[in-house]
Amino acid sequence: MSSDIELRVTFQPSGRTVHVLPGTAILEAAARAGFVLLTPCGGGGTCGKCRVKIHSGTTGAPDARAHRLTAAQRREGWRLACCDTIESEAVIEIPPTSLFEHSQKILTGDAGHTLAVDPVVRVTTVKLPPADTRPGLDCLDAALGETLSIDPARAGELTDRLRAGGQQAHIVQEGCRLLDLQPATAPAVALGVAFDLGTTTVVGTLLDLVTGTERGVAAALNGQIPFGDDVLSRILRVRENPARLPELQAAAMCSLNEIVGTLCRQAGIAPERIVHATLAGNTTMQQIICGLDPTALGEIPFTPAFVHSFEVPAASLGLAIHPAASLYVFPQIGGFVGGDTVAGMIASNFDRLPKPTLLVDIGTNGEIALLHHGRIFCASTAAGPAFEGARIAQGMRATAGAIEKVLIRDGDIHINVIGNTPPAGLCGTALIDTVAELLRHGLLEPTGRLLLPEELPAALPEALRRRIERTGDDPRFVLVPAAGDRAAVCLTQRDIRELQLASGAIRAGIETLLQRAGLAATDLDAVLLAGAFGNFIRRSNAQRIGLLPPLPHERIRFIGNASSMGAKMALLSAAERNRAETLRARAEHVDLGSDPGFLDIFCQSMLFPEEGAAL
Ligand code: FES
Repeated sequence: MSSDIELRVTFQPSGRTVHVLPGTAILEAAARAGFVLLTPCGGGGTCGKCRVKIHSGTTGAPDARAHRLTAAQRREGWRLACCDTIESEAVIEIPPTSLFEHSQKILTGDAGHTLAVDPVVRVTTVKLPPADTRPGLDCLDAALGETLSIDPARAGELTDRLRAGGQQAHIVQEGCRLLDLQPATAPAVALGVAFDLGTTTVVGTLLDLVTGTERGVAAALNGQIPFGDDVLSRILRVRENPARLPELQAAAMCSLNEIVGTLCRQAGIAPERIVHATLAGNTTMQQIICGLDPTALGEIPFTPAFVHSFEVPAASLGLAIHPAASLYVFPQIGGFVGGDTVAGMIASNFDRLPKPTLLVDIGTNGEIALLHHGRIFCASTAAGPAFEGARIAQGMRATAGAIEKVLIRDGDIHINVIGNTPPAGLCGTALIDTVAELLRHGLLEPTGRLLLPEELPAALPEALRRRIERTGDDPRFVLVPAAGDRAAVCLTQRDIRELQLASGAIRAGIETLLQRAGLAATDLDAVLLAGAFGNFIRRSNAQRIGLLPPLPHERIRFIGNASSMGAKMALLSAAERNRAETLRARAEHVDLGSDPGFLDIFCQSMLFPEEGAAL
């Protein structure tokens, strides 16, 4: 282990710090710190969108690809995050314009298109004649030229507010429903929250529905985790005992309300100021949060309870925002291809891309969409929880103490640990790294068999040779030896088998969709990697184990949390919401389980590529 060579990197203006190995791309270090940078050219050094400024520290020799920067710009400290590497402790500024999703007044998608702020919630300011004596709020109908529906329980209160405001007010309405009436003496306040409801993590973003400004972001763990790590175990809980459905629903809603509370504290507002919400999640999460039985998703043919988007009164589900607010739930395509995939498609402008493109969200279920000649093929594939550390002997999520990066250099391994704490286990990216490095250095066969100590190549450096230990009949690879009270961190033969299953399932899904479309992987113009895990994958290692097809790296792009971005777009724009529905209708769901060729492709995909077959 050589974590002693880790370098401290601080990103400004946030001050967030990470520790990385020398030679790490700035792009990767920024991702580790939680920043997703714009990479429209896929890290090819040609767009110049990922530029950052070095305030202290040194970077590696300029990459030949980084021709978007002049010598003068480099002297000023500008670097391309995709091409330049970190070689010493450093302080690096990330300008807002280099962030994939930055706190600007107008959100942009990854293609840089401008999103018009045109939400379903409208704010209008009315000024009524003081002499208007019509009863209640009838005078509003005349002023607005439409008939508003009002919750009878609130009619008196709203009428009093209108009178107290001297017959002037900001009217907040959704369609013909009057949500709120605010004094015209202050600017109107209408906020919305966009939720990305993941199996593990929930993210909420508070947005101003008048200006499009982002007012805050908060995250929480999904309260359903005690019911099982993955969607299948949660579905099983409900199947075993239908009375558990309300418990699961309440557990997830508790997380959403926790986020609402945090956002309100951040913005200094009352929850009643939040007059609308959108939610994108996988099919299981979307159904459970709506109180819909998910058990049909756990058995063939994996039928979702709904496919069309819909709105539901937020209060009826227990969401503690404005009592009359509604919650928009994304449309679903089929099987496990849910609202998060549709949201990812609108966020990446998927349907408007001109050439064959693949969108992949790698998680417990790999969700895959392929665009070709106007057709959209979608599938989900059960990768299992290996990438999240489950079913791996010393696997863990990507939290403090997890080894997240592994490389072999100068005859031994080097690791990077999240949080710069003693290593406690390894997360999904380290799992991929380790296996890729073991393949490159001849310790692992393409079949997935780890060599025994006596079978190791004669030229293998001694430090690496010592890391292969025999446990019973099976060998294991020691990433971190035991020291004092600290147990060793090892990769076992069984762990490698789990990775083969997970990686093979995703790759087989990709290949099956390509076959359906009559394409070869090399025909792909771009592979868009979405989701928390996808954004930390090292492309060369993912290709070395066969998880991703052998394409030039600039064609494999990271698009950040596309599901969250899509939920925000649907919150701010009724047109984007319509587009989500159109995309759902266009998408062709491919049931991999009934595809006659899938099993063969899966078996083939579980084998690691021979050296030279992967880029
Ligand atoms: Fe770095 Fe385009 S130049 S992503």
